[in-house]
Amino acid sequence: MITLGIETSCDETSVAVVKDGKSILSNVIYSSLKEHRPYGGVVPEIASRACYEIFLPCLDLAVKKAGISLKKVDLIAVTQGPGLMGSLLVGLSAAKALALALKKPLVGVDHVLAHLWAAKLVKGSMKFPCVGLVVSGGHTLLIRMTGPTEAQIMGRTIDDAAGEAFDKVAKMLNLGYPGGPEIDRLSRGCRKSRFKFKRPILSKDSLDFSFSGIKTAVLYKVEDLKKKKSLTQQSKREIAFEFQEALCEVLAEKAVRAARDGHSKVLVVGGGVSANRRLRECIGLRCRQEGAGMEAIFPTSELSQDNAAMVASLGEALYRDRGADSLDLGSYAHFMESRYFLGSKTNGK
Ligand code: KG4
Ligand code: ZN
Repeated sequence: MITLGIETSCDETSVAVVKDGKSILSNVIYSSLKEHRPYGGVVPEIASRACYEIFLPCLDLAVKKAGISLKKVDLIAVTQGPGLMGSLLVGLSAAKALALALKKPLVGVDHVLAHLWAAKLVKGSMKFPCVGLVVSGGHTLLIRMTGPTEAQIMGRTIDDAAGEAFDKVAKMLNLGYPGGPEIDRLSRGCRKSRFKFKRPILSKDSLDFSFSGIKTAVLYKVEDLKKKKSLTQQSKREIAFEFQEALCEVLAEKAVRAARDGHSKVLVVGGGVSANRRLRECIGLRCRQEGAGMEAIFPTSELSQDNAAMVASLGEALYRDRGADSLDLGSYAHFMESRYFLGSKTNGK
């Protein structure tokens, strides 16, 4: 079966062609990131306009790279949510138009679950139950998936998303946008810091996250150093290092605990922040300490970021499981609105 995947949930526009849910024939990704740089964050209007302008060239390129014609497509899979409404509607409208014109079935896919499903493209199969940590500019979620249509939230951020915290701290340190890669780069080679930030654990049993306290602690420290005229490159480096250590330790600790509580031997990590070198080290280390065959799956950078191949792959599984969606398929902004969301598993219980 040949599935055409379409992903436009935020600032990326992606079109992919995937065969039998696991062979990627093409996965074209365009990001409007540079257009958002001057504003220090994603501007929804700019993001949706970019999706609209670049969609057809991405579609043409994806089909060309796959070496097929649109007539060969058996199924159209599209991200329904969560995401920015304007961007989502571009992909959804295009998917419906294609389904109608080509007389092919349409299936709506949840973007967060697609990040977990990227593991199938890495491993060739999917094992359930599966626990995933999705960490991006918009999400920090621990999800347990028991099948393609069943997911529970085990933990989530109660304030900022992890990527958002990276971006805001980078802004305080006057680094560029997006801030995550800048902090990752600046802290490289640093081994210890004069500064200490408390690890935001919340309560002992909680799998929820909170990053606003550490962000404020960084702000106070930066203001204090500025007053003393001692915000040097070295002090910025040590702040970036300590901030990254604190965040990565907490993310790794809770993610591995969620996998254990969720009786999953695999922990899939997806979203932009999963590119972080230190987060990968911390999660790898915690999995080894956990033993019992616990394995972390980090999709390649192409499959960790927002991409349509993961959407096509999950879309195929959904279509086989429950058939096609109708052309009045809607979009949604939050994961809790997903039809596959079964509720929250509080405190990992
Ligand atoms: O998933 P993503 O590409 O886009 C959405 O948020 O939808 O994630 C972008 C986020 C940004 O906040 C960015 O700063 C962060 O991922 N990020 C990183 C790294 N690369 C990207 N954070 C930490 N370390 C990185 N190496
Ligand atoms: Zn994403």
